[in-house]
Formats: sequence, C-alpha cells, structure tokens
Amino acid sequence: MKFFADTADVAEIADLAATGLLDGVTTNPSLIAKSGRNFLDVVKEICGIVEGPVSAEVVATDHATMMKEAAVLRALAPNICVKLPLTIDGLKTCKALTAEGVKTIDGLKTCKALTAEGVKTNVTLCFSANQALLAAKAGATYISPFVGRLDDIGHDGMELIQDIRTIYDNYDFKTEILVASVRSPVHVLAAARIGADVATMPPAVIRQLAGHALTEKGLAAFLADWAKTGQSIL
Ligand code: G3P
Repeated sequence: MKFFADTADVAEIADLAATGLLDGVTTNPSLIAKSGRNFLDVVKEICGIVEGPVSAEVVATDHATMMKEAAVLRALAPNICVKLPLTIDGLKTCKALTAEGVKTIDGLKTCKALTAEGVKTNVTLCFSANQALLAAKAGATYISPFVGRLDDIGHDGMELIQDIRTIYDNYDFKTEILVASVRSPVHVLAAARIGADVATMPPAVIRQLAGHALTEKGLAAFLADWAKTGQSIL
C-alpha cells in the first residue's frame, strides 16, 4: 500500500519524506488555503521534495477552463497529478485530450486524453461506486473516495472501498483506489485489508500508525535494563 500525505504543509512533508515512507502527496483547495501560501509556489515546492505524485486540484468547473488550468499545473513539475472533481465536467476534463473531435457527451473525455498524454489524474470527491466506475472508464490514474466524510454522515465509508475494489477487479480496471478523507489508523488498516492501492492521510495519522503503548513500554524496559549493564555500543 502506498502512503500519501494529505497536506500542503511543506515542513510536515519534508519531515515525512525523510523517513522514506512517503510515496506521494495530495492537496486540495482547502489545504492550499490553510497553508496561506501561493498555490503554484507551494505545489512546485512540494514537487521538489517528493519524487512521487503530487495531486494539485483545478478550481474551474467547466471543461474548457479546467483544461487550461491542467496545462498550467502540468508545467510545474513532472510529478504533478491533476486532480479533478467527480462531476460531468470534471470527468470530461479527466478524459479530455482524447483524440479531439470525439463527439461523445463531454463527460469523460479529458481523463483519457490527459492519461494518454502520460499525465496522471486523480478524480476526487467520490462518494459512490457508480462515480468510481465512471472515473475508471475515463481512465483516471487514481480515484479518491472520501471515507471520513461518508462516516461523518452515518454511512460506512469502507463499504464503498470494498465495492470499488470488487468492481475494479471484475473488469481489471487499472485505476488505483486512493482512499481519502482518512481520519485514523483504523481507516488505513481497513483499507489495506480490502486491498486499496493508496491511503492519503494527515501527517499525524501516518505517525499514529507506528505508535503502540506496548512498544513504548517494551522499549523503556529494554533501555532501563541496558542501562544497568553499564555498557555502551560506541
Ligand atoms: O484531500 C482529500 C481528502 O483527503 C480530504 O479529506 O479530511 O477534508 O474529509 P477531509
């Protein structure tokens, strides 16, 4: 399972990147606003810190402008992943660049086109299996189902992850399941059991994965006993 940091906090990303455990980063307009920094500047800086994909989201809602914004984002760095909302225009922009002149409902053109150009796409704000099916048909690199927000309204976010895994396996879709809106290590464990490809999570959750009271207690006991030996390794 790949771990992405869901943040635009450069210091946090640098700390986690130094552990070697970070496989990518996802941002969204709210995280960019929280950073207080210029969008293009902070995303470019993040792309220089991690080698893996860095998701940066378009903010337009119409296909034509999404395409223009995607071009600006793609120019920032080779590891940019264009994040697109799961709307008809979002899917269109996710599929866009397909052979021009494809006269289908716009809806899904951009993703395939961007993918065909080797641009990674991350279709976000996914809350249903049907939406995930559309995104896979659009050739999305990643689908981002928001488990925490579904839990927040009394649904079981992990049921959606299981549904998407089943559907994607049924048809051998290559779109990777990027579990988002992760609130705790419990989400990460459940996603791993289902076989999701990626979990993107706040840096604090990544750190929580390593924590266990018995580990801390055991290490303290080891070090206390070692101290009694009066020895040192160096
Ligand atoms: O960035 C996408 C997603 O992870 C946001 O999650 O915590 O705002 O529900 P959250």
